[in-house]
Amino acid sequence: MPFNFNPDKDLPNLNGKVVFLTGGTAGIGASAVLALAKHHPAKIYFTGRNSTRANALITRAHTLVPDANIVFIKTDLASLASVKAAFAQFSSPRLDMLICSAGIMATPPALTDDGYEMQFGVNYLAHALLVKLFLPLLLATADLPHADVRIVIVTSLGYRMAPKTGVDFGNVRTKQDAGPGAPWIRYGQSKTAGLLLAGELARRYPQIMSTAVHPGVINTGLVSGLPLGARLVVHVGCFVQGVKMISPEQGCYNMLWAAAGDKTGIVNGELYEPVGVLSKTTSKPRANRQLPGELWEWTQKELEGY
Ligand SMILES: *[C@@H]1O[C@H](CO)[C@@H](O)[C@H](O)[C@H]1NC(C)=O
Repeated sequence: MPFNFNPDKDLPNLNGKVVFLTGGTAGIGASAVLALAKHHPAKIYFTGRNSTRANALITRAHTLVPDANIVFIKTDLASLASVKAAFAQFSSPRLDMLICSAGIMATPPALTDDGYEMQFGVNYLAHALLVKLFLPLLLATADLPHADVRIVIVTSLGYRMAPKTGVDFGNVRTKQDAGPGAPWIRYGQSKTAGLLLAGELARRYPQIMSTAVHPGVINTGLVSGLPLGARLVVHVGCFVQGVKMISPEQGCYNMLWAAAGDKTGIVNGELYEPVGVLSKTTSKPRANRQLPGELWEWTQKELEGY
């Protein structure tokens, strides 16, 4: 156990709380659903693309917690219309935790249904839309007695591979496939955007605790599903930096800590490395002071129709 954190012991009872988590059908998202269920929230909604896997996860959760209230919402984050439809299926009077956990990594060049670069669209823009749609409810929940509303954006230290400008606004409606390392540059861009979203949310809505979390380098399908070359980048990168690959189960610890752990140790808008360690490496995307605000304005404009 490389971490001094155990969700079974270190998370409080979540009685009455409602959770919405993206990417719950595999990897760290699935582990997070199971770990949260053990603390008896009122309801957990999770998204994913695969209903078979979703049902298997719900069955597994029920073996651990027979009366767990868990709802799957089939969603394709590569489609903003699908994200909006997912939001429409949510029907609770409050939302305490919005956990943006779904993600793709170093995938081949492609566009989303809406014409955005795929990693940017799935990792960032789909989640920015969820945040936008849920904000009124999150703010209303924050006004309730004993409220503790949190938004967790799962990002990655891989944000450092982003283009020089952080987000290449002029090209995010292209496949951005120029040059060596393009899949990782696209990944870095999407993760930079997520990181900046957390910071900007904290600035605009201090009554909500918004954080970005690096889950650690996890041996999930994201890595094992990559082509050999890309897989080598991850493994060699880990070796060089002395980072140990961690299991999917441990990979959800940092997001669980940020979503439900002791709030007194959390600074709103910051990036945390596992588990609960304030990252000292965020200077680069913030060196451009205009970027977080620019990204926010750009995003609101792109999402105007939703
Ligand atoms: C859904 O997941 C199941 C179980 O892992 C797998 O057999 C199936 O091929 C998946 N379906 C799709 C459409 O990916």
